[in-house]
Order: sequence, then structure tokens, then C-alpha cells
Amino acid sequence: MLEEKNIPLPRGEQRLRVHRLPPSVVERIAAGEVIERPASVVKELVENAIDAEAENIVITTEGGGMKSIVVADDGIGMGREDAIVALERHATSKIRSLEDLEAICTLGFRGEALPSIAAVSRMRIWTRPHDQIEGSELVVEGGVLRSVRPFGSSPGTRVEVKDLFFNLPARKKFLKSPNAESAQISDVLMRLALSRPGIRWSWVREGRKALELPRAKDFYERARQVFEDEPLVAIEGERDGIRLRAVLSAPERAHPTSSMLFLYVNGRSIRDRMLVKAIQSAYGSTMPRGQFPVGALALEIDPQKIDVNVHPQKAEVRFASPERVFQGVHEILASFLSSRPFVPSPPKGNEEERAASRDLGNSLEEKKDEIALFEASPQQREGLLFDAILRDGEEAQPSRYASLRPIGQVKGMYIVCEGPEGIAIIDQHAADERVRFAELQSMFRQGRVPRQALLAPLRLRLFPSELEGIENKQEVLDRMGFEIRRFGENEILLCTVPALLSRSSPEALFRAALAELGSEEGKPLSEAIDRALATMACHGAIRAGDALNQLEQEELLKAISQVREFSGHCPHGRPVVFEITFSELARRVGRK
Ligand SMILES: Nc1ncnc2c1ncn2[C@@H]1O[C@H](COP(=O)(O)OP(=O)(O)OP(=O)(O)O)[C@@H](O)[C@H]1O
Ligand SMILES: [Mg+2]
Repeated sequence: MLEEKNIPLPRGEQRLRVHRLPPSVVERIAAGEVIERPASVVKELVENAIDAEAENIVITTEGGGMKSIVVADDGIGMGREDAIVALERHATSKIRSLEDLEAICTLGFRGEALPSIAAVSRMRIWTRPHDQIEGSELVVEGGVLRSVRPFGSSPGTRVEVKDLFFNLPARKKFLKSPNAESAQISDVLMRLALSRPGIRWSWVREGRKALELPRAKDFYERARQVFEDEPLVAIEGERDGIRLRAVLSAPERAHPTSSMLFLYVNGRSIRDRMLVKAIQSAYGSTMPRGQFPVGALALEIDPQKIDVNVHPQKAEVRFASPERVFQGVHEILASFLSSRPFVPSPPKGNEEERAASRDLGNSLEEKKDEIALFEASPQQREGLLFDAILRDGEEAQPSRYASLRPIGQVKGMYIVCEGPEGIAIIDQHAADERVRFAELQSMFRQGRVPRQALLAPLRLRLFPSELEGIENKQEVLDRMGFEIRRFGENEILLCTVPALLSRSSPEALFRAALAELGSEEGKPLSEAIDRALATMACHGAIRAGDALNQLEQEELLKAISQVREFSGHCPHGRPVVFEITFSELARRVGRK
């Protein structure tokens, strides 16, 4: 249908693009309740506008969409007969046959949205194809077509939906406040806007402009518009027939739900637990358990390798080989995330503080950008920061720690250092934890972690849950530096511990590692191992409150400057360093 856009129809001949699907196809469509709330109406209407190749989409809502929703587009429009047929169930221009269901490239394909919305509202459609001079107006009430008449309008389509569920009071009761419904609309629009950077969007909510997105050149530019002040790293990669683009937050910006993590497959916004897990696992141990990064991830896959016809709201897809997708996504993200340190991101505060601390967060080496950041307007600042992060991703960054000189220890917790561009404050526990984790990880990867024998083997009584499957874990434990022997029914003998961690309690160390190894069934073993190594590193690391002399401080700095992966964060995701540039310091004390 889409390719017919520019073909002028011969005069007097009305070729129908929208047609009723044959029963054999209708049976195969995952049908269901399409319209639950105003946000579902917005989603369906906007998806239709996208499929119609619109370049501009304007959404207007009132009363949280319960009173009225208008979606206007400048897409291909509909001829009068097409528009009438489009109101029938299972009438669509997007697929024709069973084969078409195998490789769907449009957002819509079921021919259900318009009739479903029309059935529960008062609807008006104004539409005009580009190749016709006259448009049409259709008036529908509760699913009944009341009138069709010629109407002068610009090319494109405008659909107005008023009094949603006016004829379904029971459904209406389940709706929330206008504000809550608007929040859902906002979520839908953010997701859709990210999926189509080339489209210009605007949303007028209760008479006020709530969203205005100019055309963006690509996914990354659109992400910058949508996520505004969220510092994100940009990632791109290709593996195994999967093309991936993503923008993701630093671990400490983790969210307790995955609601701020937007996922796309072939331009369709979807929910998918497997993809969320693949992203989480790529962060390794830096992502706190049960937390999720903020950002977006878009995959392009051969449409034959996914089935989009599985969910009534088209909110899920099925992958032909989910394991390969998991693996591919994990690998692309992990190789990126682990090798390029995040720019530590600022705490949430007022705009001035945010801008300032965002600047501080930049590595000292990014001096030029920092200066620019201060002088730029807030919007330019966003752009520069984002670009700085993008660049950050492209080059390996020299260690920010190498040029620091320790001045002294404060509160037994922090090492204050002087650097060429400012003052850096290092959390000694987080830094040492990262150092030990890196050492443990590299020794583990190379074979095994050097061990130290305990003077006398330690007899430990294990809980049944700890004992479960311990035989399978024995090899990994051994490589981690724990040599154990089974002793009786529910006891073991612990004979060695990792030499690097010999100062911590052998029992606590071992039990913590064991707990991590057994914690989440179904997660990749590498992830469990990383978590176990992280926990071990935490046990063995310098604590807050440990006094460090000058030499020890220097050693710690030297050690952390040699860490290549995630050196800005402890293995559990906390930032290691806080920096304040001299220029910022001068500003704070009123020198400039
Ligand atoms: N904004 C629009 N511009 C041009 N044509 C449209 C527009 N909205 C709907 N149509 C036409 O009306 C048809 C029916 O739309 P409807 O949303 O009901 O079904 P669909 O998009 O084909 O499938 P789905 O039910 O999965 O959304 C579409 O196939 C399309 O041809
Ligand atoms: Mg549709």
C-alpha cells in the first residue's frame, strides 16, 4: 500500500487500498481487547499516522484523553471509500495474505484499531489523499456510521475521538484521574517518538504544549531530545544479524523498575523480559540487584526472524531464536560497558547544581569540553555533554587517576587528591573494592585465583540450600580460591581462601561467594561469578575507617589507575570518585 502513495489514480476510478481480510487470515491474528484507556487510543492512532508515512504528527488531548483526543498527520490520507471500509473489523491495507503475516513491516496489520475505537466513542475522521483535491469527513458514534460528506482539508488525516467509553460506563469506572491518564499518554508518546526520529511531534495537553520534538537526524539525537538531562552513553554494534543501537545510563542511575528502559524491535516499541535481562547482565555486578538502567535499546532484525502477531496490543514479539538475541545483545553491550568508564553522573538537584555537578562528573582529561560546558546555555550544555560521552565511547580513555597526587585522608574514608584540573575525592573502600575485583576477575579468567591455605581447615555446617548443587559449584569455587572437601552429610571443610583476601574472615567470605553463586537460577553463570567475585572483593577491601598512610594512599591510587574496566565505579555500581574542577571551585567561591 505504501508504495502506491505517489501513483495518481485514473480519474473516476476508485481503487480500494483498504480491504477486508479473508477468514483464514483473521483466524490467525492475535486479537483481543485493543482499547483499554486513552493511552491505547493515542497509541493506535499515532501508529496509523506512522504507517501512513507522516512527517508531522500533532496530538491534542483534553481531560486526560477521556474528553477528547485528536491525532492529526500529514501522511498519505485515505480516499472516501477506503475510509469507510477502514471502519470495518479486519479491514486493512497493510497485509493481504497469510504469507504477509510472516514478515510484517508496518506497525498495524490487524485492521482492528479504528473499529475498536469507533465502537466506544464519538469519532470523526477528516482525511484527504495527496492525489485528490477533495477530502471527506466521516462521523461515527458508538460504532455506527452517521454521516459521510465531502470536506475541504489539507492532505493527510485527522482523527478526533470524544467521550471515550460513553457507552461503556463499567469500563469508564476503571479509568484514573486525568493526570494519571495523561502520564500514560506521555509514556506512549515518548516511546513512539524515540522509534521515529525523522518525525516532528507535538503534543498539546489540556491546552498547553507538553511536548515539542523537531525532526532529529537519528536515534541518538532523538534520545537526547527525549531524555533531556539524563546523561547516557551511546552504544552501537552489530552481531549475528542483529543491529543494535542504545543509549544507557550509568549504573548508579539505576531505577527500581524497568519502566524507564525503552525497547524496540524493528521500530516497534515492545516489552521483553529477555532483553531487559540481557541489558542487566551486560552491566555485570555494577548493576545493583533488581535494578534497571535508564535508556533505550533498538534492535533491527530480519522481520522473518520475529513474530509480531503474538500479543493483543502488539506490545510483545517472539524471537525465532531468543538465545542468540540474548547472547548478541549481551556481548555488544558488555564489551562496550566494561571497557569505557562512564562519566559519573550527577545527583538529582536543581538545574544549576545539576549542570555544575554534571560538569564535575566529566573526566579531568575532558578539559576543553568542560570549559565549553560552563559557557554554554543549558540546552547547548546537554548537547556537549552528550557529545562528550559519545566521544568517550569511541576512544579508550587514559586513566583519570594517573595524574592525581594524594593530599591526605579525611574521616578515615576519603582520599583527597590534587589533579591538574581540579580536586578529586576518592572513596577508599569503593576504589580498593574495584581494584581487588579487577585482580580477582583477571586471575579467574586466566585460570585460577591464587590461594592461601588456612592453618587448620575450617569445618563449616551448611544449610540445605547452601549444600544444594554444591558439587556442581565445586570447580568454580576452586578456581575462585576456595578448596573445599565434603565432610559428613551437611558439613564441609574449607581448606584455602583467595590469598588476596586473606585478611577477611574466611567463613564470611566463603558463604558470601556461595550465596552469590546459587542466587539466581537461570542467569548466566558468568554473571553469578562476577557477583561472587564482587562480593569477595568487598569483603577483602580496605574499609571506611581504616587509616591509610601516605604510601598506602599512593599505592591505592596507582592500583586504581591501572584498572581498565569500569574504573569509575565499585563493582556494585557506586562511584569511586567525586571531582571538582578548579574553575568550578573558583565559581563557587565567587572568584569568577
Ligand atoms: N492516519 C491514517 N492515514 C492513512 N490511512 C489510515 C490512517 N489510519 C488508518 N488508516 C487506514 O485504515 C486502515 C485501518 O486502520 P486500523 O488501525 O483499524 O488497522 P491497521 O492499522 O491496518 O491494523 P491494526 O489494527 O493492527 O492497527 C489502515 O490499514 C489504513 O489503511
Ligand atoms: Mg492501526
